[in-house]
Amino acid sequence: MYFVANWKMYGNLSSLNALDKVIKFSKSKEIRGGRLIYCPPNTLIGSFSKKFKDCQIGIGGQNCHESQEYGAHTGYVNPRMLKNIGAHFVIIGHSENRKKGENDRLINLKIKSAIEAKLKVIFCIGETLSEKRKKKTYLVLSRQIKIGLKNIKNKSNIFIAYEPVWAIGSGLIPKSQDLFRIVEFIKSKFKAKSPKVLYGGSVNPQNIINLREINNINGFLIGGASQNAKKFIDIVKKTY
Ligand code: G3P
Repeated sequence: MYFVANWKMYGNLSSLNALDKVIKFSKSKEIRGGRLIYCPPNTLIGSFSKKFKDCQIGIGGQNCHESQEYGAHTGYVNPRMLKNIGAHFVIIGHSENRKKGENDRLINLKIKSAIEAKLKVIFCIGETLSEKRKKKTYLVLSRQIKIGLKNIKNKSNIFIAYEPVWAIGSGLIPKSQDLFRIVEFIKSKFKAKSPKVLYGGSVNPQNIINLREINNINGFLIGGASQNAKKFIDIVKKTY
């Protein structure tokens, strides 16, 4: 199981002190084969890379520019720059960026560029509350997968993160049977080996007890709860 901590725009150098307990946990038998991945703000990726150099905790970026080349893109970083400072993963297509105008075509270019840079991609898809109410969930997911992954032959380094927008930061999670069906639907869109599918949206040490029963999920993309080392460790421990 994969446990991805999306720190969003939180954290500074002092935040690293609390990670010692996560490093200790990652080396203990209690992790039961779980894979931990932290996606801090770009400003902290280099420090995380140094902090985690003697353990198996992965590091990722939270987005990237669609170009492989350096260039006049003020405020952005390209996938090669993320890799250069120690990232092996990158989140692409998060709804918080879609809300700011990132469309499926741009996301497709970013995924291609990240794969060319040999980063593993955590590709976020999910419907809004309005789309859910209009019973458009499956239509939206189909479109996001179709356009987001267009002309990408090798999908072996792509994780799909199903993050219903209405569950992010709300404390709400999908009904178990709905989530199971949606994950099966996502996997059915891949003829060859289906990608690992993560769930994201209000995952916490309480509701993980229900979420862990959904046996087709390969891991979790965790926002708020991952900023607290004890909560993050509790989520992992309670998944098994
Ligand atoms: O990418 C994960 C994030 O969007 C979920 O946030 O705070 O609902 O766990 P949160």
